[in-house]
Amino acid sequence: MASPPWCASSRSPLVLSSLLILLSLPLLFLLAPRILAPKTLPPIPASDELDDLALFRRAATVASSRGLRVRLSSPPKVAFLFLTNSDLFFAPLWERFFRGHAGLFNIYVHADPTVSVAPPRSIFRDRFVPAKPTQRASPTLISAARRLLAAALLDDPANAFFALVSQYCVPLHSFRFVYNALFEAGPRYRSFIEILAGEPELWSRYVARGDDVMLPEVPFDQFRVGSQFFVLTRRHALLVVRDRRLWNKFRRPCLKSRENSCYPEEHYFPTLLSTQDPAGCSGYTLTRVNWTGSVGGHPHTYGPAEVTADLVGELRRSNGTHSYLFARKFSPACLGPLMEIANSVLFRE
Ligand SMILES: *[C@@H]1O[C@H](CO)[C@@H](O)[C@H](O)[C@H]1NC(C)=O
Ligand SMILES: *[C@@H]1O[C@H](CO)[C@@H](O)[C@H](O)[C@H]1NC(C)=O
Repeated sequence: MASPPWCASSRSPLVLSSLLILLSLPLLFLLAPRILAPKTLPPIPASDELDDLALFRRAATVASSRGLRVRLSSPPKVAFLFLTNSDLFFAPLWERFFRGHAGLFNIYVHADPTVSVAPPRSIFRDRFVPAKPTQRASPTLISAARRLLAAALLDDPANAFFALVSQYCVPLHSFRFVYNALFEAGPRYRSFIEILAGEPELWSRYVARGDDVMLPEVPFDQFRVGSQFFVLTRRHALLVVRDRRLWNKFRRPCLKSRENSCYPEEHYFPTLLSTQDPAGCSGYTLTRVNWTGSVGGHPHTYGPAEVTADLVGELRRSNGTHSYLFARKFSPACLGPLMEIANSVLFRE
């Protein structure tokens, strides 16, 4: 029986192995950064500044130069950005949500360093990014979100979506469902961020830092409001960490006398994205919240007795345009009841 020509000659094993080595070089080159990549997150330069300039510059340049190349060789991932100032009460629920989906997500936690947060086990271990204190009614919540975005951009070029959640948020669907819903739009991914105009409180929110402070960069007719909880595309995450112009306005403190109107984190992201790329944004959030009977700017917080399959069904349902993927706020005591319905209801689809 005739052998194929390439293994007929006695010289060929040598030729063949040299050829194989040569051919595998590009592969090695591609894999090396991932094999050598450190297990811990890249350090963020210490700075007393609100906004960690060096970090954002580094994230903007590194992320934009290497993004596309690596994304081709690994499936896109969702970066879950946990913004917290207490323990991650629902860590066991999130663990179950993520189980079996390694390689499709990354976790990053920004925990207020002035509060001692119990380091959670398993998938949250070593996922804490260098953090700074956060307070309500201050731009620190914006910088914390920007810090999370920058850390996630730097850490893994496969991060394609960036979902901001808090310790009070819970998933309403399985990981597979969430992942498919985010990537459904194909290559022209949109960010899921609420962008509202014409809300009654908008003017007092606009002048919270002083009467003409936002001009000329942010005229009132471009000022927007929306939920702090967004899912941004990589393109928009980059746009955020690169932004200096609007951030220089939104980072200014509110006047003492107007602190009741100070919610910069509900304005910075919707205003920035609606001026830069309105067509690339959904205009709505994927995180359901219940403002009925809200007290002091806090939404309704669900207690353990309220956690039922019916509630989950109700929270998922939208007004017809889309379905919610996450919900808030749940009290820590809801963990037990949520775990009980995790497999049968929450993660069933
Ligand atoms: C439903 O929600 C979308 C997105 O938030 C909004 O644009 C629309 O006006 C809402 N429709 C109704 C009937 O409330
Ligand atoms: C929203 O909260 C109110 C209490 O403030 C409650 O009566 C209502 O059932 C909640 N709605 C949903 C959909 O959970």
